[in-house]
Amino acid sequence: MCGIVAGVAERSVAPILVEGLRRLEYRGYDSAGMAVFTGTEIERARVLGKVVGLTEQLEQKPLVGGLGIAHTRWATHGRPSEMNAHPHISGSDIALVHNGIIENHEALRAELLTDGYNFASETDSEVVVHLLAKVYSETKDFVEAFRQVVSRLEGAFALAAIHAEDSTSMMIARNGPPLVLGHGLGENFAASDMYALLPVTNQFTVLEDGDIAHVTRASVTLWDKAGELVERAQVTSTQSNDVADKQGYKHYMLKEIHEQPNAVLQTLEGRLGQVQVLPGSFGPDADSFFGGVENIHIIACGTSSYAGMVSRLWYETLGIPTTVEIASEYRYRQVAMPKNTMIIGISQSGETADTMAALEYAIENGARGVLAICNAPESSITRLAKITLLTRAGREIGVASTKAFTAQLTALALVAGYIAQLRGDDEFAAEMTAALKALPEQIVEALALDKQIDQWAEHILHKDNALFLGRGLHFPISLEGALKLKEISYIHAEAYPAGELKHGPLALVDENMPIVAIAPQDELLEKVLSNLHEVEARGGELFILAGEGVNYEPEQSNLVHIIKMPAVSRLLSPLVYTIPLQLLSYKVALMRGTDVDQPRNLAKSVTVE
Ligand code: AGP
Repeated sequence: MCGIVAGVAERSVAPILVEGLRRLEYRGYDSAGMAVFTGTEIERARVLGKVVGLTEQLEQKPLVGGLGIAHTRWATHGRPSEMNAHPHISGSDIALVHNGIIENHEALRAELLTDGYNFASETDSEVVVHLLAKVYSETKDFVEAFRQVVSRLEGAFALAAIHAEDSTSMMIARNGPPLVLGHGLGENFAASDMYALLPVTNQFTVLEDGDIAHVTRASVTLWDKAGELVERAQVTSTQSNDVADKQGYKHYMLKEIHEQPNAVLQTLEGRLGQVQVLPGSFGPDADSFFGGVENIHIIACGTSSYAGMVSRLWYETLGIPTTVEIASEYRYRQVAMPKNTMIIGISQSGETADTMAALEYAIENGARGVLAICNAPESSITRLAKITLLTRAGREIGVASTKAFTAQLTALALVAGYIAQLRGDDEFAAEMTAALKALPEQIVEALALDKQIDQWAEHILHKDNALFLGRGLHFPISLEGALKLKEISYIHAEAYPAGELKHGPLALVDENMPIVAIAPQDELLEKVLSNLHEVEARGGELFILAGEGVNYEPEQSNLVHIIKMPAVSRLLSPLVYTIPLQLLSYKVALMRGTDVDQPRNLAKSVTVE
């Protein structure tokens, strides 16, 4: 999603803004740009493509000045192009960057066209800069004009704007997408996340929805959504300023796949004792919060929702009625909220707009409170939660989630173990504790399947479609396997519970349809094996991840490829079976030559609806 960096300083801000944009690259984008007040006027540089292209342009023609705004754009209205890239300019003296969607842009555009404003782009964002110019022409006061304009906008937005007549201040606003202020000595900055500004400060103010700020080098004046002057607490970020690098791996995704044993260890650290989940791991209020839970709604999107689907089966084992809800649907449903419903919000980024809105809706709708499972400290979702369990997987740069997913599952397993303890289900708690302890080593063993996965990838490389099958705890893992393949190799992939095959998808099976099946040694094994024979009988090519004691007798050996999985625990086997599926999607994508870390059209942090 779009990223914003802006700054007002004595020194030249362009290098700070470029570094900030580079740090926001992980969010996903298609074009980049910057506008700087260079002494007498606002000058702009924009490129279609990567920040490195912008850097090259700035090397040819530097933009030197102490006031500037910069942006990475992820197209929503108007195709990816230099013309649509931000900043947008009105006349020659106002420049603006925008993250989000202006829902009333058509009405505003019509009004501005009538007033004689010309549009140079196809974006919804450009209406904001022209509206700002129009209102400024009436008020002659940039602060007042910006506040009036914000009050007329509908939708979700983070904004930063500068005016050539004031080289020492900028205006920013937040309504939805994240925006933070970073405070230096005699200089101030704004950005979509703290990480973008860590090279210049660790002191931040997190803007709340409806906030507008007038930011000078030495001061910040902040209004809340009611238009009242407000002071917000400054926080010191605890994030590491390390610039993520690939440490010898070809892609961040591969590095992150291999970081999973450690990510799991980090998530468990200080939370798992010898025989139980440690009391206190979830904070002082956890026992009373968890103690009264009678129902659970798990709310998330994409991969995070699949983590929720696995955990649902653990919570149901404990006797707690649990549903898993896609956030973008839940937020618009008339949800019947049972008594004492705990909401579990899962999000690696902590900024997913649909998840945020669904959690807010659940709170308003009478939920007991939100437990956030999140990989981003200080993110929006953690701020609305009653209890936050940070996954501590470390920064995930690859758009396709891998280590964040296994860390989410680990955190959800800790919660299940702890609730079991509180309910006196010692057997489940002991089994979960033992399974969690053994997990990092089992993931290491699964990573060692790398070479065998290469052979599978060569078979799948030229296919147009793939089916993934699993049952029980492993059905969500088949969904995740299919999503990973779609996301980074662009092969169409679907997942089904294996028992559903005969109810439709079996019609798709022929020699061109690879079927990736998860067949662990569990109580559903015989049923899965018989589903696989049905596939083989129709000429489908099978790729089976088989539990250590599992024997599948192929009818045609050239159509069946089997990888023997390491021994796993019953409860946490999904975390281990997901590893070869991640490797498979990575290797297929590598062979197809796609952009693994930043797949087309996707964003790491989906901050718009
Ligand atoms: C995962 O590979 C995807 N990129 C995507 O489905 C992601 O899991 C989803 O957008 C939710 O993101 P979140 O965890 O940051 O809320």
